[in-house]
Amino acid sequence: MTATDPAVVGWTDRDLHAWQILRPLLDAGGYLPWSEGAMRPSGLVDVCNEIVLAKRRRILELGSGTSTVLLARLLATCGGTLTAIEHDAGWATWVAGQLAAEQLQDVARVVHAPLVASPPAVSALPWYAAEPLAQALTGGAPDLLIVDGPPAYRSGDSLARAPAVPVLLDRLAPDAAVVLDDIERAGEHEVLERWEDASDLRFERRPESGIAIGRKHARAMA
Ligand SMILES: C[S@@+](CC[C@H](N)C(=O)[O-])C[C@H]1O[C@@H](n2cnc3c(N)ncnc32)[C@H](O)[C@@H]1O
Repeated sequence: MTATDPAVVGWTDRDLHAWQILRPLLDAGGYLPWSEGAMRPSGLVDVCNEIVLAKRRRILELGSGTSTVLLARLLATCGGTLTAIEHDAGWATWVAGQLAAEQLQDVARVVHAPLVASPPAVSALPWYAAEPLAQALTGGAPDLLIVDGPPAYRSGDSLARAPAVPVLLDRLAPDAAVVLDDIERAGEHEVLERWEDASDLRFERRPESGIAIGRKHARAMA
């Protein structure tokens, strides 16, 4: 077995099916260094469907990676832009370089935002630095927020993503959707409950894809 065997990275038959659905995007720009940290294929298909069917055109992603490049490939065909927030400078450089190599820099960009102490009113957890985050929000309110960062897999970091909705909800479009990845983990389970307690958002949990999706107000699907 290798680190990328489906069984090792927690993929299911649904993910192997989703991998085939994603085939046009996987083939569009060549090899990507898929790793355990990447969103599962079935979660990515749900996000792609949300972009296509609900016509999401201004995407904000917390935590960049292969998902950023894959979604940029989709947006290049259906229209729209993506901004990814990344705390790790080296990884931000790699993702931005890949986007540039595929001539996708006008579709998607990576903003490096180191993790710093949060405003005390929001949480005791580190969060993306305010200035680069504000810069990332210039140019219009996002209509889809994907929360796949900061990393939350280590014990002690399990609530690392909790500030996303308190900090960003008011900055999103009135009919925006919010996606949280990794909902099989206890930390993300608690994060969803906190978000529902603190806002009008109600999340549809999709354990089969590893994501949950909440909408501020219903948007007509295609
Ligand atoms: C859950 S990952 C985000 C994954 C990304 N949304 C995706 O699906 O590809 C959270 C963090 O892990 C780091 N990361 C993700 N993929 C990585 C890789 N292949 N190598 C190194 N760091 C990675 C980045 O710092 C990222 O912000």
